[in-house]
Amino acid sequence: MTPPYRSRVAGTGSYLPEKLLTNADLEKMVDTNDQWIVERTGIRRRHIAAPHEATSDLSLVASQRALADAGLTAQDLDMIIVSTVSGDQVMPSTACVLQSKLGCRQIMAFDMLAACSGFVYGLSVADQFIRTGMYKNILVVGAEVLHRFVNYKDRETCILFGDGAGAWIVSRAEEGDRNVIMSSHLHAEGALGDLFVLAAGGSRMPLTQQVLADEAQFVRMKGREIFKNAVRTMTACCHEALEANGTKPSEVDWLVPHQANVRILQSVADHFEFPHEKVIMSVDETGNTSAASIPLAFQIGREDGRIQRGQLILLAAFGAGLTSGSLLMRY
Ligand code: UT7
Repeated sequence: MTPPYRSRVAGTGSYLPEKLLTNADLEKMVDTNDQWIVERTGIRRRHIAAPHEATSDLSLVASQRALADAGLTAQDLDMIIVSTVSGDQVMPSTACVLQSKLGCRQIMAFDMLAACSGFVYGLSVADQFIRTGMYKNILVVGAEVLHRFVNYKDRETCILFGDGAGAWIVSRAEEGDRNVIMSSHLHAEGALGDLFVLAAGGSRMPLTQQVLADEAQFVRMKGREIFKNAVRTMTACCHEALEANGTKPSEVDWLVPHQANVRILQSVADHFEFPHEKVIMSVDETGNTSAASIPLAFQIGREDGRIQRGQLILLAAFGAGLTSGSLLMRY
């Protein structure tokens, strides 16, 4: 049965904290160097939240900008999803904190934990609520203050991650509007979950003095395995999205993938037979910001004039879980 309603992206916004952590700064903290980081990852700098900033603070600014862009107020929202692995605290959810800060009605609000795929997961859930006719305006946020979960003694991980937030307003499209979310596909391979973990702080490993001494409160990753799986899954997601819509790669205006590592993005483009110059890459400026990376990259592409209304945009995501997903839309 054809769904009665379709979703459109009515507004977008982002926020990057002011403070920068450059490769030169990292050279003073761990045994690394600018040349290695740039050659292996493409990253030159990352934004780092100020001590008083938590994930809901970054989310608030990005959300206010997205609401203004959509011409809506917080009162118009029907639901909030915050995708994050670095929420303000375990509970209440960052989405509930954000709902209060924005001054919304008593609308439903929850956090989505799908790591770096979280924003695409969140958009897909929002799209379903719009398609059924249940809601009209949904705020989807991808936000992280990851640097507080990174071990700055571990040179393989600490060079990668940064902080930031992106927010989109997903709204019910007018009848006949061509600028709609066309499809989303989501996946998870739980059997590969041990490749990228933040083990401590849950019911399996509550925080104790010993856990802190073992530094298990930080992210741990098998980098090379993650690299291979990121290329494999994001390439598969790109193909799946286009096959489901009978679309050719040449029809896509921009691929906006999860910004993990420039070599991962180039490899995905090569496997997908897609021109590198049509891939939005912002990892040099932001590092890997997990759930925030896709909306941040999108916003950079929008603000520099590359991304325009009416274009065909493909999002591809990959993250811990292992999760992955795609979303195809006419923006
Ligand atoms: O959202 C998903 C999150 N995770 C990721 O995106 C990670 C994906 N993986 C990667 O991006 C890459 O695997 C890394 C950037 C983490 C590592 O790059 P690589 O090309 O896979 O390097 P490698 O692990 O094969 O290591 C090569 C060498 C090693 O030294 P030896 O054993 O050859 O002597 C490492 O110890 O590079 C060394 N190394 C470093 N050297 C300088 C590892 N990290 C660093 C560093 N600076 N920061």
